Amino acid sequence: MKVLVIGGGAREHALCRSLSLDPDVSALYCAPGNAGIAEVAEVRPVDALDGDAVARLATELGVGLVVVGPEAPLVAGVADRVRAAGVPVFGPSAEAARLEGSKAFAKEVMAAAGVPTARSYVCTTPEEVDAALDAFHGAPYVVKDDGLAAGKGVVVTEDRDAARAHALGCDRVVIEEYLDGPEVSLFAITDGVTVLPLQPAQDFKRALDGDEGPNTGGMGAYSPLPWAAPKLVDEVMESVLQPTVDELRHRGTPFSGLLYAGLALTGRGVRVIEFNARFGDPETQVVLARLRTPLASVLLNAANGTLAAEPPLNWHEDAAVTVVIASHNYPGDPRTGDPIEGLAEVAAEDGPDTYVLHAGTRREGDAVVSAGGRVLSVTATGSDLAQAREKAYKAVARIRLDGAQHRTDIAAEAAAHR
Ligand code: AMP
Ligand code: GLY
Repeated sequence: MKVLVIGGGAREHALCRSLSLDPDVSALYCAPGNAGIAEVAEVRPVDALDGDAVARLATELGVGLVVVGPEAPLVAGVADRVRAAGVPVFGPSAEAARLEGSKAFAKEVMAAAGVPTARSYVCTTPEEVDAALDAFHGAPYVVKDDGLAAGKGVVVTEDRDAARAHALGCDRVVIEEYLDGPEVSLFAITDGVTVLPLQPAQDFKRALDGDEGPNTGGMGAYSPLPWAAPKLVDEVMESVLQPTVDELRHRGTPFSGLLYAGLALTGRGVRVIEFNARFGDPETQVVLARLRTPLASVLLNAANGTLAAEPPLNWHEDAAVTVVIASHNYPGDPRTGDPIEGLAEVAAEDGPDTYVLHAGTRREGDAVVSAGGRVLSVTATGSDLAQAREKAYKAVARIRLDGAQHRTDIAAEAAAHR
């Protein structure tokens, strides 16, 4: 099977890496890709938001499967265009991707499906904002831009004025109850009927150690979660994933692709923080590192509506950790174009279980330079989290990128407590 992956971040690098190791995959393309992806797939230029261009490329290449990585193309209807061109595609329609594209829509679906989530109000006027901010038990305040904002539309703050200012800067906001408790990301592959959960992971959203600093797209992740209840996945399947998939199918807008549930494990039970309509980044890097089942046929069965035929997924016992190296000033306007050194040393010295996935990089002559906010996602597997962590940080230390930043505490607590 020939496969085309759309996107060019560390998540797409992780997807391409897994697909490149799958004996069923005879040719692998990625558009637009990045400098690291070019080592495992043939990269092609494309405007990932242009559905017709993506469909044309897929037809030209004669691929049997297109996998759409990021949310923006999905919300823009790229999967619909590819499907209309007769090519199987892993990724939801624009209608179903509204689950991520509109927080208000996600809330409405959850209410209809009886899925547990934070109580919330959708506000468009200053009066509604003030009423909503006072509706829960004071601080912390949670204010979410209704639309897509690359992980930067959410403000959680003790400061009512800051919460109010963020709300008034958005056209439409969701203001909701603060959820206390550890966060878990659980992905499920679905064809709109059958739901196949992956293993849970935890993501580190804040820029700085100790969960300080601004929200980011994610600064690191690990899997498995040794502290989580063994029945967590079953429970989330039953209370969140299956009812959401069923609800969207009943509405006539079935969701096929990757359903990502961002969850808070509160004292009163599991609550959904958000849904995403695609693989999460950086959680994908650790979840796929642990997946033993070859990926292509699972994604193709989801695309074709034949997921029920898929046997249960197999997992490595190993733990996985990924540490994101970000540009100077990220998540603010990042500095790019800086040379990255040390990649060859990691490849030569650290063994096959430690590898660098590229997020925002491009090739400039012989050099690889930074080309985005998140630059690299350094990933390692080991017999437990402590070992995976040690290996990942050893590789991080080899990488030189002027002004770069990374968190030093990814998976530290989970590794210490076992
Ligand atoms: P989101 O983009 O919805 O995932 O929000 C980004 C981050 O904000 C989440 O990962 C949480 O850390 C935090 N957050 C979002 N909603 C809530 C909530 N209701 N209560 C507490 N924290 C939240
Ligand atoms: N890791 C958060 C996200 O992918 O949205």
